[in-house]
Amino acid sequence: MTKPIKRIGVLTSGGDCAGLNAVIRAVAYRAIRTYGWEVFGIVDGTMGLMNRPLQYRMLDLHFFNGNHLREGGTMLGTTNKGDPFNFPMPDGSKRDRSPDFVEGVKLLGLDALVVIGGDGSMRIVSKLCATGNIGMVGVPKTIDNDVHCTDTSVGFSTAANVVTEALDRLQPTAASHHRVMILEVMGRDAGHIALNAGIAGGADVILVPEVPYTLEGVADKIKEVLHGEGRSHALVVVAEGCKTAEGSTPSVSYSGGQTRYGGIGHYLTEQIAALTGAETRVTILGHVQRGGIPSMHDRLLASAFGVHAVDLVAQRRFGRMVAWRDRSVIDVPLDNVTIGARALDPHGALVHTARGLGIYCGEFGEDLESPAECCGPAVVTRDADAAGPETI
Ligand code: F6P
Repeated sequence: MTKPIKRIGVLTSGGDCAGLNAVIRAVAYRAIRTYGWEVFGIVDGTMGLMNRPLQYRMLDLHFFNGNHLREGGTMLGTTNKGDPFNFPMPDGSKRDRSPDFVEGVKLLGLDALVVIGGDGSMRIVSKLCATGNIGMVGVPKTIDNDVHCTDTSVGFSTAANVVTEALDRLQPTAASHHRVMILEVMGRDAGHIALNAGIAGGADVILVPEVPYTLEGVADKIKEVLHGEGRSHALVVVAEGCKTAEGSTPSVSYSGGQTRYGGIGHYLTEQIAALTGAETRVTILGHVQRGGIPSMHDRLLASAFGVHAVDLVAQRRFGRMVAWRDRSVIDVPLDNVTIGARALDPHGALVHTARGLGIYCGEFGEDLESPAECCGPAVVTRDADAAGPETI
């Protein structure tokens, strides 16, 4: 006979974003109030189950103080480094720590795990769960909005709102000084944040990794705005994962050997100034995009996802991820999600909208509706030597 579900774990994995606490709250409310289960929050993602002593928090109804729905970050902590199958040890060696993870789940007596993560986390944690025959349900979150099979993920709407607001703040100062403002935004290998917020924030140029651009194309657009239309200022949004015109990938190295995308904004600022004669300034929005109070949309998504994830556990429908499609919550096989990151569709409605507004968003071939050969695939591929190595 199958063991009844009595106790579940919930963890956040990968980069934080707004709305994670709202998912944790929804998972706990549904599990405790509807099913009468115990809920353990695992600290620092998979680390909490690999570390000894185990690191977790009992999430009972007294724990939730009324603020969690409104708070950014994750109350449980998270990690986006260290693959548990190839875990970096202090002495520099690598170790497979998946047995520690599986043992941790058994020691805590968890009957299932709800994992809130992006595509990298889904891939790694579902592999970990498979090694120990642990029932897992996934909840998609990421500001990058690059998880397959879901229209949107928790955290994206808030991040895109932050970028839109940044453009609202940049426009008046750009207008006052007759400048071209370049805003570099996150998104890793995908341009969803740049495109969505660029349209909403009135950008003149939006550059995304999925569509190649030329400096001449960018400069022509800016000259058209400044001289042809006489506006005297312009706004450029560039996704951090864009390459230079020469094809290199700007990156920044941090202590501990981590590399992240960064620098394309500075590069464009210099190039645009040289090619147009305009005065330029750059803003790198960075982790500001990950913080803040979750938007209404993210809270709603988080709540709907949390409830549905727990229902899947109750039905023992493991190996699935909750998703948002056509105004409702559905669920899809995790195998369909763990194929990689979801790139922006260069033929999609938003690129069409941007182009329809006259925004320069890269070079397309003869047929205006078809992007050039080298445009991004549906699944993001990574150069072996590219910055931003795959992280969980
Ligand atoms: O995946 C979310 C994200 O914010 C990316 O947009 C960005 O490239 C990356 O994480 C930054 O990672 P870190 O927080 O490690 O600097």
